[in-house]
Amino acid sequence: MSGINVRLADRLGQLPPYLFAELDRMKKQVQARGVDVISLGIGDPDLPTPPHIVEALCRAAHDPANHQYPSYEGLRTYRQAVADWYRQRNPAIALDPDTEVVALIGSKEGIGHAPWAFINPGDAVICPTPGYPVYAAGTLFAHGEVIEVYLHERDHFLIDYSKIPQGILERTRLLFINYPNNPTATCAPRSFYEETVDIARAFDIIVCHDAAYSEIYYDDRRPLSFLDIPGAKEVGVEFHSLSKTYNMTGWRIGWAAGNADVIRGLGKIKTNIDSGIFQAVQEAGIAALTGDQGCVAELRAIYQRRRDMALAGLRKIGLDPLTPEAAFYVWMRAPEGTTSTEFATRVLQEAGVVITPGPGFGPGGEGYVRMTLTVDEARLEEAIERMGKVV
Ligand SMILES: Cc1ncc(COP(=O)(O)O)c(C=O)c1O
Repeated sequence: MSGINVRLADRLGQLPPYLFAELDRMKKQVQARGVDVISLGIGDPDLPTPPHIVEALCRAAHDPANHQYPSYEGLRTYRQAVADWYRQRNPAIALDPDTEVVALIGSKEGIGHAPWAFINPGDAVICPTPGYPVYAAGTLFAHGEVIEVYLHERDHFLIDYSKIPQGILERTRLLFINYPNNPTATCAPRSFYEETVDIARAFDIIVCHDAAYSEIYYDDRRPLSFLDIPGAKEVGVEFHSLSKTYNMTGWRIGWAAGNADVIRGLGKIKTNIDSGIFQAVQEAGIAALTGDQGCVAELRAIYQRRRDMALAGLRKIGLDPLTPEAAFYVWMRAPEGTTSTEFATRVLQEAGVVITPGPGFGPGGEGYVRMTLTVDEARLEEAIERMGKVV
């Protein structure tokens, strides 16, 4: 029997090649040789969700009231918990849970859908590179024009707005920024956010700040939220997530908070294509946000030990990692004379360690590789020791 001719839509053809798929294929080959591969590729915490959060889910799952469709925008109590979380972080941040917070099925969902709400075909969207690939993918799906803005080490991986031509800023409708940054693990100073608010005002640009890693920081230096900046709420929103703060990547729960018009636009998209987050998961989210934050401090202490150990180890084997300020990644240059992909391939083939080549985060990542800190210290030490043989 002959089947139909399945043709993918053109928008899928516009996506950049998915480097991770190739790495995954190679990883399986190496494993098939019997090698115990250590994966420092994907940013997925290895530690479990704290028990009080799991217990809140179990309790809520037994309540039939939670078995029906949830509300599109999220439980009022969840949105209130988000507003309270911000207020406890900075008493100057006042968010109206009814109009300025929306629950997301993980922040990736909101980030990917944001361009659908605000971008007409051909509108420009600034997507930093290296950067989280979803900014560009969401823009392409909405038929927007991706404006790749390179982040440079000499600028501390901050956008240099003075280098963006005025004509482009005039056509830009939406700007993605992300600090603490994936993949570079750097933070942005107050002055950068202030400049961002000024640029957004001057050119009528919606700012989407991705703050997924704001609670995973080092040396007691807590990163700013975009909403800490006066005027931020007039120009944009912050996307946030429980994934990294509470080891909840699998649960799929996050939020967007800030400008009421942006929240309404996002909500309109969501009403039409999803039906919200399982309420029991939202109850667990409330337990996470309003419960004892000691678990987050403990998590930071664990990553701090891993980071310090990894930096010392990597320097000892002759690599030159940048010191992460936040997030659980180490960003470093590939050794002289090799491209990122050549180096990552050798590390996998010869040392059995998966690291991510920088171009996986766009062309601005060339010359670098990213390694995660999401394995225990013994495993991390072994990975670095093995990498030493390749370097
Ligand atoms: C920079 C950044 N933003 C957002 C996300 C999405 O996180 P989630 O959808 O789990 O909230 C990730 C996940 O890795 C990320 O690295």
